[in-house]
Amino acid sequence: MIEITLEVNGVSKTLQVEPRRLLADVLREEFRLSGVHIGCAHGACGCCTVHLDGTPRLSCLTFAAQCDGASIRTVESVGGPNAENTLQQAFKSEHGLQCGYCTPGFIMTLLPFVEEMVVQKRMPDDAEIREAMSGNICRCTGYHGIVAAVRKAVSTGLEAGA
Ligand code: FES
Ligand code: FES
Repeated sequence: MIEITLEVNGVSKTLQVEPRRLLADVLREEFRLSGVHIGCAHGACGCCTVHLDGTPRLSCLTFAAQCDGASIRTVESVGGPNAENTLQQAFKSEHGLQCGYCTPGFIMTLLPFVEEMVVQKRMPDDAEIREAMSGNICRCTGYHGIVAAVRKAVSTGLEAGA
């Protein structure tokens, strides 16, 4: 067993993990963060995306032991049922989800992209948006609504900064 300390959504916890234990499993089972979804478990779908020290990372391909001392953010830290983040609101209004299983992964993948576009003060074209989300798979909604949600979230961010 290896002792590690993780800061997850602002809360630090020290725990013992087997070297082979996946970050996705530790977040779901030890931190009770069920928004970390596991779809394929081999790096193909993006459902399990979290932020590791500010960068999107596939938690199904990451050993928890590699993350000792890291700061991790999951979808549970992004808005909430009554105070959704702008991107979450846009997913809802633009029909960017159906069953919702893929949605936490899309949100965690696309949040930094939306923030970067707002910082750059520009609206990305559809090809850029599709490239940004190319590591995430949605099995039921299709992608038009998700692309529209990203455009809406960027637009809202640009208006707020105008
Ligand atoms: S569950 Fe991690 S990429 Fe599919
Ligand atoms: S909304 Fe069902 S898999 Fe994407």
